[in-house]
Amino acid sequence: MSENLTYQAALEGLRWQLDSGADEVVSSQAWAPLTAEPTKPRHQPFEAAVAQAQAEAQAEAPRVNKAQSAVMASEDQLARDATQIANTCNTIEELKAAVEAFEGCPLKATAMNTVFSDGNPEAKVMLIGEAPGADEDRQGKPFVGVSGQLLDRMMATIGLDRTSFYITNILFWRPPGNRTPTSTEVASCLPFMKRHIELINPSAIMLVGGLSAKTMLNRTEGILRQRGKWANYQLNSERAIPALPILHPAYLLRQPVAKRQAWMDLLSFQKKLEEV
Ligand code: URA
Repeated sequence: MSENLTYQAALEGLRWQLDSGADEVVSSQAWAPLTAEPTKPRHQPFEAAVAQAQAEAQAEAPRVNKAQSAVMASEDQLARDATQIANTCNTIEELKAAVEAFEGCPLKATAMNTVFSDGNPEAKVMLIGEAPGADEDRQGKPFVGVSGQLLDRMMATIGLDRTSFYITNILFWRPPGNRTPTSTEVASCLPFMKRHIELINPSAIMLVGGLSAKTMLNRTEGILRQRGKWANYQLNSERAIPALPILHPAYLLRQPVAKRQAWMDLLSFQKKLEEV
């Protein structure tokens, strides 16, 4: 806390952060913009303000484009580095160790634990979720919080549990405050996921939630459009694995009425397991 920040002001600041959704302390230092003097508002006619904003946006454009290209180039480099590391791994244990040692994903800096996987690596069913939440981050295991418990109950209805499925997430580290992950964070983890699927070699994949379905099937459509529609995850030129996007249990907790759709999708998954 800065010396000239009064107790009352610090308390107000903290309340404001909590109201804004902060639920994690990531540094003992206050971030400068939160403690800096607010700039005085500028009063000017509407047209002048619009013209100024347009001029500023135009002046910014080359810088923004350059910054975007730099982000894309660094994403490519990260993905290449991660692919190289992932491809040296020949067992799940090696892959787990490589992920734990990997420093390329910015989320690692704020997470308590690496959340790699749970369940049976010999199973023919593989579940891929989105990202660890607070409970998973604390325990170092995927889907152990409230939505994980619902997911376990859902899987039990089709006769599956963690001895008969293997479960992991697109991201191995919790995004602070459960925010949406950036494309760089996803790009840095994806090569490990691809290798993960190669090593597990499941007969069917369940894609749990929108991020999982979009990332693994390389689609932009939301989960409400993708759910229940079988797709193929192309493992290599010879092998495609059937993959079914389903609604995330966290969504079902907020929208219990959607459980009916989830139930239909679970039955479809059960039926597919009889064929593969
Ligand atoms: N949600 C996910 O997608 N994965 C977890 O591990 C927990 C919650």
